[in-house]
Amino acid sequence: MTIPLAKPDINDDDRAAVQSVLDDADGRLALGPRLSAFEAALAVASDRTHAVAVNSGTSALHLIIRSLGIGPADEVITTPYSFIASTNCILMEGATPVFVDIDPVTLCIDPERVAAAVTPRTKAILGVDVFGHPADWPALTSIADEHGLALIEDSAEALGSRLGGRACGSFGRAGIFGFYPNKQITTGEGGAVVTDDEALAASCRSMADQGRGDGGWLNHVRLGYNYRLDEMSAALGVSQVGRLDALVAARRRVAEAYLDALSGCERIVCPSVADDVDMSWFVFVIRLADACSREDRDRVLRALRADGIGCRDYFQPIHLQPFIQEALGTRRGDYPITEAVGDRSIALPFFPQMTADQVAAVVESLLCALQTLGDRCEV
Ligand SMILES: Cc1ncc(COP(=O)(O)O)c(C=O)c1O
Repeated sequence: MTIPLAKPDINDDDRAAVQSVLDDADGRLALGPRLSAFEAALAVASDRTHAVAVNSGTSALHLIIRSLGIGPADEVITTPYSFIASTNCILMEGATPVFVDIDPVTLCIDPERVAAAVTPRTKAILGVDVFGHPADWPALTSIADEHGLALIEDSAEALGSRLGGRACGSFGRAGIFGFYPNKQITTGEGGAVVTDDEALAASCRSMADQGRGDGGWLNHVRLGYNYRLDEMSAALGVSQVGRLDALVAARRRVAEAYLDALSGCERIVCPSVADDVDMSWFVFVIRLADACSREDRDRVLRALRADGIGCRDYFQPIHLQPFIQEALGTRRGDYPITEAVGDRSIALPFFPQMTADQVAAVVESLLCALQTLGDRCEV
């Protein structure tokens, strides 16, 4: 691809940080000072008292579900418009994901539908900050408090976003971030749990490290996993999180360039940001008009790719994934807003170093492809 869909922003400080781990005389490549430093910086960035850095956002979600004791008898209300991991973490513990449809503007889980889906078996609500835009955490908190449910924040895509001045990841009982290379900051692979709950943080930390207790290296007090983040990755994380404000600002600049160029276009819906949100943009996802079909969207994807432009049909609804349909009996028609959005969405190239010329090239190719769809495709 001439213009990739995503690209990490790695500078000389990042490179030096990783190299310094390898150069250290003590050869400490795991469970060392960089991990602690990364966790301390993440706690500050997310307005939390504890952060547990691990090897992926998926691991972080799994640790929270297990630490909360969610199991086969339990239901967790969640969104079908997300990356698969926010549902898989529930299935991993044998619990039942209960999907509810999304708000058509924020694309995050709709609190009214959440309230209506609570049953005696509901144990938790797992919301997602879709594409970096915060879910309606105040409304979700009220529902969770009213029914005595745990609120879990999947903020994998939202490090640096704020709602009413409060950091994403700071609202529920615990939240997570992801640090895959397309995220606002990266550690290669990586993720973190953030929480103010000391016992939950301790449980996550122990399970991420083979279920170790305080009794030493070969003392295991619970079922554990190896979800640890190594020192090279943590060092990269320390360097990257130190640049979080600059990285978020660079992404905002690209998003604004897209919005300037595309807001007047009648054939697409551009992403919108609520007034009380400080947005840390994860991706830039546009949507074709409701009159367009999935085939129209796929035709636009093909045209962009033919011009060397990286793009994706992002997200594909979780309830339509083959193994979820098999496991839960979900089918097309179950969540119409999610399907309408999922069928028409296109993630455009988006990364902090993207130049004005690259944005212009994407916009030109997109407008050209939209022309071929005809007038019925107007919003
Ligand atoms: C919403 C959401 N949740 C969870 C994850 C899982 O993170 P990871 O890929 O680090 O396991 C992702 C990753 O992209 C995500 O977008």
